[in-house]
Amino acid sequence: MTQTILATGGAGFIGSHVTLELLTAGYKVVVFDNLSNSSPKSIERVARLTNGAPELVVGDIRDQAALDTLFESHDIDAVINMAGVKAVGESVEKPQKYYDINVSGSINLYRAMLRHGVGKVVFSSSATVYGMPEKMPIDESYPIGPLNPYGISKRMNEQILEGMTAANPGWRALLLRYFNPVGAHGSGQIGEDPTGTPDNLFPFIAQVATGRQPGLKVFGNDYPTPDGTAIRDYIHVVDLARGHVRAIDFLLSDAAQDNVAEVINLGTGSGSSVLQVHRAWQDACGFEIPYDMAPRRAGDAPESCANPAKAKDLLGWEAEFDLPRMCADHWKWQSANPQGYEGS
Ligand SMILES: NC(=O)c1ccc[n+]([C@@H]2O[C@H](COP(=O)([O-])OP(=O)(O)OC[C@H]3O[C@@H](n4cnc5c(N)ncnc54)[C@H](O)[C@@H]3O)[C@@H](O)[C@H]2O)c1
Repeated sequence: MTQTILATGGAGFIGSHVTLELLTAGYKVVVFDNLSNSSPKSIERVARLTNGAPELVVGDIRDQAALDTLFESHDIDAVINMAGVKAVGESVEKPQKYYDINVSGSINLYRAMLRHGVGKVVFSSSATVYGMPEKMPIDESYPIGPLNPYGISKRMNEQILEGMTAANPGWRALLLRYFNPVGAHGSGQIGEDPTGTPDNLFPFIAQVATGRQPGLKVFGNDYPTPDGTAIRDYIHVVDLARGHVRAIDFLLSDAAQDNVAEVINLGTGSGSSVLQVHRAWQDACGFEIPYDMAPRRAGDAPESCANPAKAKDLLGWEAEFDLPRMCADHWKWQSANPQGYEGS
């Protein structure tokens, strides 16, 4: 029988790709999203790209009544909780917003799951929980030390789910720590559509390439790395989305154990510096992208790179796409949709 997955935040950047890959793998998907940082067009396009249409329910994870109606009217087998806010800088300025949405909202969702007898959950965590890592690559046993309210909100979710999974019969959780998701679906139809000035390297370069931003600022060229710029483990969003399909396959199978919450890194295991990314973007676009050096940003680690071995061992998943493909697909999306969904 076809199993149904509830994807909170499923209209967003990662969520739309996860929804598409779940549908492609034969799952039914119900997207629950308040559209505060996404467009319903992402779901319309996912519907066009797949045979099975996803269902979009517009609602907020902080709304108990809306969640009760959702669980009463759908036979949900498992939940992927991707809903939330994600800007590190904003989280420092407005911590209450981050704890309200990412923590209170999530607890509200987990309590609704409890009320309706759904105990299988995948959570969107982040490599941010590792704080300022000093030894590479980072495996899941690396010490935790989030440096800002966003990272703390992710760690709190992990702890809440560890406790709820241990305490409640039939509960199983996978806590996926994403490294740096980038790129877009190869069709160029869905991709990242940030509101305001992007915080992250890929969407920023993409906007420089389309003329929405005047030039790239490279924050720090005096890090202890080969070219002096910071290194990150960029992962193609389609690889990341397929990791979620494997996570759901696993949670719903006999291989997974009840009352266990597993933490799993999703990364490629290979890092790229800002200047390497810049060069790969120029190759993808075929023209020069202007850049300037700027001082380091507070709180940025010199390097962050996953050890993804556990994902391979437990889920049989590993990333396939390389940096040139990440840039090419991101550029395909951005050049076809220079103003994002609403402008296209
Ligand atoms: N993109 C990254 O670099 C990254 C890295 C690590 C972890 N994550 C996590 O992955 C998840 C998805 O990130 P994304 O990049 O797709 O971001 P996104 O903003 O594109 O997606 C988040 C979605 O959640 C929705 N949402 C926000 N608040 C909500 C609420 N109260 N109720 C219902 N829906 C709500 C938004 O409308 C949006 O569609 C987030 O939890 C994020 O913290 C992202």
